[in-house]
Amino acid sequence: MPRSIIEPFRIKSVEPIRMTTREEREGYLNEAAFNPFLLRAEDVLIDLLTDSGTGAMSADQWASIMRGDESYAGARSFYRFAETVREIFGFQHVLPTHQGRAAERILFTTLCKPGDVVPNNTHFDTTRAHVESVGARALDLPIPEGRLPAAQHPFKGNMDTDALRAIIAEVGAARVPLVMLTVTNNSGGGQPVSMANVRAVHAICREHGIPLYIDACRYAENCWFIREREPEFAGRSPREIARELFSYADGCTMSAKKDGLVNIGGFLAGNDAALASAESRLLILTEGFTTYGGLAGRDLEAMATGLGEALDEDYLNYRIASTAYLGRRLTEIGVPIVQPPGGHAVYIDAGAMLAHLAPREYPGQALVGELYLEGGIRAVEIGTVMFGSTDPLSGEERTAPLELVRLAIPRRVYTQSHIDYVGEVFEDLYRRRERIVGLKMLWQAPPLRHFTARFERLHQGSPLSEGALGRKP
Ligand code: F0G
Repeated sequence: MPRSIIEPFRIKSVEPIRMTTREEREGYLNEAAFNPFLLRAEDVLIDLLTDSGTGAMSADQWASIMRGDESYAGARSFYRFAETVREIFGFQHVLPTHQGRAAERILFTTLCKPGDVVPNNTHFDTTRAHVESVGARALDLPIPEGRLPAAQHPFKGNMDTDALRAIIAEVGAARVPLVMLTVTNNSGGGQPVSMANVRAVHAICREHGIPLYIDACRYAENCWFIREREPEFAGRSPREIARELFSYADGCTMSAKKDGLVNIGGFLAGNDAALASAESRLLILTEGFTTYGGLAGRDLEAMATGLGEALDEDYLNYRIASTAYLGRRLTEIGVPIVQPPGGHAVYIDAGAMLAHLAPREYPGQALVGELYLEGGIRAVEIGTVMFGSTDPLSGEERTAPLELVRLAIPRRVYTQSHIDYVGEVFEDLYRRRERIVGLKMLWQAPPLRHFTARFERLHQGSPLSEGALGRKP
């Protein structure tokens, strides 16, 4: 009989989490105007808001922290960090940054100009915002299956290579300063990209002389999926797979808050010396000198250690299995999720689960509120609240193509019983899903309105979960 895939660690230091009553949570949620970003973390029992910077560091990483060299220039910690990045990613020029978006800002401001087009399988909101802030167009080219939550595909994060060829033909290679691949594809459901797709995108870029960059945040998880799902790579080490994956790219941006297993840190890396020199001028201007880039020496040490740990086979096996475990539980209950579950998160199709709510009644945000009320669980809406906007001409609100709720799993933080508890909360919620009431947006501040928007229940006086007034499907 196959045995359980267990947490490949034991716990040396614990952080208490606080139980609250439903009445208390009603009060907290009202104060936060139904926005999970406005809740205090100490009022949350299980925090699945993000997997970014929320992981647990290992004993080795904490030991690295003490070895941090805090010299302003030329710190030993920088050389150890840069050498680790060269070994894993194969890029010669390594610029540390405080997190992923700083690397993106430097890359896009250096490479892009107004009128350019930057294709990606799916841009994350920060890469999109940086591309647009320099006047270029951020284009999403996922494969058609990537847009269908229920469709099964082993590599739903792949880029549509025909669409890539078509856009290059349409605008001309000179207006495409780079192509980007996000591994795994966060906005597309945490879905992996296959090595075959990376090779195909690389070939198209090479043919047209366009650099290929990888948004590498969750590259280790992506490499594990390649090993599990792409027969050519069965049994190969994640490190070897990573080496091949990045060999097809000219550079990468990295938020080490994900697969670097640290609470803060990132980098920009590449092989073009002239470009790296231009980038380092910007780095010095806003982040810090080239050997620390806005981080402390101890952060660089923790990152160097974490980058290695994230490629450990037992860790990756456990990591991917634990996300799949939650996905399986929810599917058994009947909760519609983006299939198959991603690497770092399970995405619930709130539009399908709460089919009685229209997109402008914010089914995702309503479900997020309900999850918190029912079980003290914090998640995030990825739908019309996050991506919708007001049409400047009609004043109408544009809605998002999908109304999702993301349950992102912090690395090495929660145990199987925490996840079982999440499943139990969903069982109760699912049973009375038809009575969940929608929300009305009271206030918003674009862009990125989801961080601060305020809501109230559509039917005042009726508890969110007991919508006698809620329309039935
Ligand atoms: N790229 C992807 C694919 C991301 O998921 C993120 C962050 C970034 C870039 C930016 O990195 O936060 O270090 O500046 N994602 C987090 C999330 C915030 O919750 O998914 P950052």
